[in-house]
Amino acid sequence: MLSRSVSDLWYKDAIIYCIDVETYMDGNGDGIGDFRGLTVRLNHLAGLGVTCLWLLPFYPSPNRDNGYDIADYYGVDPRYGSLGDFVEFLRQARQRGMKVIVDLVVNHTSDQHPWFQAARADRDSPFRSFYIWEDEPPAHQEPNVFPGKETGTWQYDEHAGQYYYHRFYHFEPDLNMANTAVRDELRKVIGFWMELGISGFRVDAVPFLIESVEGSIVVDPASFLWEMCRFVNVRSGDAILLGEANVPPSQPGQYFDQGNGMQMLFNFIAMNYTFGALVRQAATLLADALNIIPAIHPIGQWTNFLRNHDELDLSRLPQSVQDDHFAACAPDQSMRLYNRGIRRRLAPMLGGDQRRLELAYSLMFTLPGTPVLWYGDEIGMGEDLAQEERLSVRTPMQWTDDPNAGFSSADPEKLVRPVISGGKFGYERVNVIAQQRVPESLMNWVERAIRNHKEHPAFGRGAVQVLGTVDRAVFGHRLDWDSDHMLLVHNLASRPRTATVPVPTAGMRQLFGNRSYALRGRKELTLELDGHGYAWIELRE
Ligand code: NOJ
Ligand code: CA
Repeated sequence: MLSRSVSDLWYKDAIIYCIDVETYMDGNGDGIGDFRGLTVRLNHLAGLGVTCLWLLPFYPSPNRDNGYDIADYYGVDPRYGSLGDFVEFLRQARQRGMKVIVDLVVNHTSDQHPWFQAARADRDSPFRSFYIWEDEPPAHQEPNVFPGKETGTWQYDEHAGQYYYHRFYHFEPDLNMANTAVRDELRKVIGFWMELGISGFRVDAVPFLIESVEGSIVVDPASFLWEMCRFVNVRSGDAILLGEANVPPSQPGQYFDQGNGMQMLFNFIAMNYTFGALVRQAATLLADALNIIPAIHPIGQWTNFLRNHDELDLSRLPQSVQDDHFAACAPDQSMRLYNRGIRRRLAPMLGGDQRRLELAYSLMFTLPGTPVLWYGDEIGMGEDLAQEERLSVRTPMQWTDDPNAGFSSADPEKLVRPVISGGKFGYERVNVIAQQRVPESLMNWVERAIRNHKEHPAFGRGAVQVLGTVDRAVFGHRLDWDSDHMLLVHNLASRPRTATVPVPTAGMRQLFGNRSYALRGRKELTLELDGHGYAWIELRE
């Protein structure tokens, strides 16, 4: 049914940047980030070369799950401004050539949403069946997504006199997606934001949308997910759905549905195996990842990331590799969460070592797909383990070395969350302005990586081929798209290595790398790579 032509697909060449409005920039001095502040900071994002902004939920919410507990689908939480401020932000982003996608949370609402309030108050309310109720919780309960914080998935409600189902926190009752009235409402929500001019949605908790309450993953052709995909495609030829589905390798393919489903999915496999390869200094794991990642329809696209607003979950890796990563990167219990994840940012996990950070990012930018950055990671921000759960990685953006990191002019005790101060990752040292002054800073490195990425469509669109490098610590791969041919070489080891990779041409030009390398060889290229060294090389016909 789709008439999208592959060359038109903007998301294949996009550079996505994820923002939590609450912690990005405070424009009115009340200590809370807002749309006015974010609008002022759009030039930072345009300067970096970002082409698409993904906003975490900013809708009215009791904010017990960072806004994923939505109380009104049609508004902006007054703490972040008005709907007018949002539209002005959108206009200014688009004026700078940036598209905006927003989080779409349809699996559940907040328990404060008027639908749930009506549902719990009256058994005969038409809203009762918007949610899932039982007199007794079923004998077999699906595990809650937040072990250690929640005990089960059925919660007794006094007002209702029944139990309701919640896959996530107990204050996030699951919507009954089988109810056509719910679907009608959600279509209106999607249509509303599309009319305002957004370019798509990051779809929260996708596997749970096609799951039956009994928990067996049934790919139901009648599930709302497919209806939603068709709806978005009919309303706009350009809007995308970017799905969050951390599922085993056999499953992600189904969400692209032969080009009729979602356009993008987060590449949890690539992300997991990148961390595995870094900790083991083993390129073989990256080759494994590329074997495991399923082939997808040409309309579809993987989205590559290293960190985001949630805990780092490495459950796609073999257990022994996960164990090594935990031992190396989250040695302390306080760094771990939900018996599976790590509540740290990238930079401290890699010891604040810029070369290793560059290596990690270089892999992310050169694995096939569209890169997405978590705000603050472009300057190597740290985490605050004194914060609850995942709030550790959601501290205010560090703009300058002024009080409150230039995030807000409010009294420090009024800030939505304290800024990270002192030590290696404090705002006094790690901030945007400081990095602007230093040509070799991480931020300027990210800007150059993005520039190179944008100049070469092979990164977003190319077919990938793993190249034998003789050395198990050196990962070599090629990306080919049309007349664009890129050769990438990464040394995962901390010591220098000699890499030998087959090349079809003597026409080679290094575009990027930790330094300039001599490109020697005809049929084979031999590179003396530094420890954690990397090179992006263009092959010319
Ligand atoms: C996934 C989101 O990424 C996470 O932050 C949130 O807590 C859950 N979905 C529940 O909405
Ligand atoms: Ca504010």
